[in-house]
Amino acid sequence: MPLAPLGWPVPEDARDGWWPGLPYPLYQMRPQGYMGRQFARAEHLRLALPQDVSAWSDDDVLFAMCQAGSDLSGDLIVGEPACELWLRERAQEAGPVSANETVLHYEQLAQRAVAAGVPGSSAAGEFPKFTARRALDGASTPHVIVKFSGADESASVQRWSDLLVCEHLALQHITALPGIKAARSRILHGGGRVFLEVERFDRHGDAGRSPLCALDVVDAAFVGSGSTDWTKVVAGLLELDVVDGALLSAATRLWWYGRLIANTDMHLGNLALEPDGGGRFSLAPAYDMLPMRYAPLAGGEVPTPEPEFALPLPDQRTAWFEACAVALAFWDSAATDARISSGFRAVCLAQRDALERLRERA
Ligand SMILES: Nc1ncnc2c1ncn2[C@@H]1O[C@H](COP(=O)(O)OP(=O)(O)OP(=O)(O)O)[C@@H](O)[C@H]1O
Ligand SMILES: [Mg+2]
Repeated sequence: MPLAPLGWPVPEDARDGWWPGLPYPLYQMRPQGYMGRQFARAEHLRLALPQDVSAWSDDDVLFAMCQAGSDLSGDLIVGEPACELWLRERAQEAGPVSANETVLHYEQLAQRAVAAGVPGSSAAGEFPKFTARRALDGASTPHVIVKFSGADESASVQRWSDLLVCEHLALQHITALPGIKAARSRILHGGGRVFLEVERFDRHGDAGRSPLCALDVVDAAFVGSGSTDWTKVVAGLLELDVVDGALLSAATRLWWYGRLIANTDMHLGNLALEPDGGGRFSLAPAYDMLPMRYAPLAGGEVPTPEPEFALPLPDQRTAWFEACAVALAFWDSAATDARISSGFRAVCLAQRDALERLRERA
């Protein structure tokens, strides 16, 4: 696949057109996470592949995306069968669900996702979710990803619900960080569940698409650092001249913002880049930012650890202070948001106070 003409940066060892495995944008499209397992569960029998996506070889991944990959992450549709499928879906598709039917539609899709019994769940640190198309005034696309809580009144469902509202607030505050965008999101309630609806930034209008690639895939293709520190990986990309200094600064702010809002789940899959068309990457909008330190444990226990924040090395002090101001605004708003339980609002207030005291000492 000639990537450079498509605007994707090409690593040194693939400039002759030969790749050691799949070209890296295709790894981004492989089925992964909750929705990847949902996809595999629905399609594996038809495709004669194992149900466990982690057992799929590169050939399996390519075969599955060619046969069934009409709506994968990013802009690419690989192979004629997938393209025909996409055209068929477009020809048949009803319009997006209307504003006053959205909640009911989400309740049904959540029920369906739960009934399908997708292996692994929120216990694995991952929200159950689905994609949908909804009509909303002022939206730049009808395409959304919707995460949802359980529907019972247990303490762990309450905590997951609180965390969904926190994710919504965290995304809203992120845009105060220079150089960082975030997808538009909103909170909806229905059937006892909380829904976090996030507009997809790889979709534009009804049929437009744009590319994206998460940092774990870019790291493997370009740097090979294996680090889990976003700033180290992006610094490696800066050395290779595939990102600019402004992107490193923005990623550093976002990294510290996450850490100061107690996001303990900042793996490289939670930061995405977009090829800028000129042989470099730009930063994609932020996603999956929430205080995961407070997520219920696999056994259902609901932890309330004491606040614990890290201080920066000297070269990251500016980014730390910028991120700290926005993190304080986030904790403030979470501490007073009536959609969050009073117990967790108190936790947010304690976080806010502890971070404020740390800022005075820093
Ligand atoms: N607004 C968005 N637009 C486009 N893609 C998105 C958006 N938000 C998330 N994604 C993609 O969907 C994936 C899953 O979303 P997210 O990271 O928020 O969920 P998660 O609970 O961590 O679950 P998972 O483990 O399935 O990634 C992300 O890794 C990213 O590739
Ligand atoms: Mg994620």
